[in-house]
Amino acid sequence: MKYQGMIFDLDGVICFTDEYHYQAWKRLADELGVAFDREKNNRLRGVSRMASLDIVLEDYPEPLAEAEKLALAEQKNETYKTLLAQMSPADLPEEVKETLWALRRRGLKLAIGSSSKNTPFILQQLGLGGFFDAVSDGNNITNSKPDPEVFLKAAQMLGLEPEQCLVVEDAIAGAEAAHRGGMDAACVGDASNAGAGDYNLSSILDLLEIV
Ligand code: BG6
Ligand code: MG
Repeated sequence: MKYQGMIFDLDGVICFTDEYHYQAWKRLADELGVAFDREKNNRLRGVSRMASLDIVLEDYPEPLAEAEKLALAEQKNETYKTLLAQMSPADLPEEVKETLWALRRRGLKLAIGSSSKNTPFILQQLGLGGFFDAVSDGNNITNSKPDPEVFLKAAQMLGLEPEQCLVVEDAIAGAEAAHRGGMDAACVGDASNAGAGDYNLSSILDLLEIV
């Protein structure tokens, strides 16, 4: 087997919470009167909450104090959590479920490597609490993607060397993080369209052809 483990990004790979991030940021941007569209949203993929806010505020006419920025990030997160609360195991896409179980049957170790601090709640909502062998997320890192920290910690938790792991990502910043950590990247969605991966997939099921 070429890889012993797989490290999955969460938002935009395992589930469509990337759409909820978009909706929550869009609502905040509208309230602030700054332009925000899907193109700009693509730049937020894999990026931490506060770094995302800085991108959303790029066109805001005046600088904001740190406390104001924290309040705005909190406001966005409240909207986002309301959307997450409506999720259930039915929101786990069928092809994701099929892929995860097939990889597990083949004996691969499976981890999450996500910048999101909401990771435990999302996994629970999807019925995946306890499924993964390791969860590395926004709660245990200091540097967000494209820094490789989240993936290096995931590999370490799995007891594997970076080169034994394949990272699965929808973010260009995430593919860069994998490469900086010495790992190959399989991309879906936006990052696949940009050709950012070692493998650029049209469906997550294509992972079963790689390992
Ligand atoms: C990543 C998303 O998974 O998590 C980013 O791709 C998001 O868009 C980041 O900003 C942080 O998420 P959260 O849930 O901690 O605000
Ligand atoms: Mg993502």
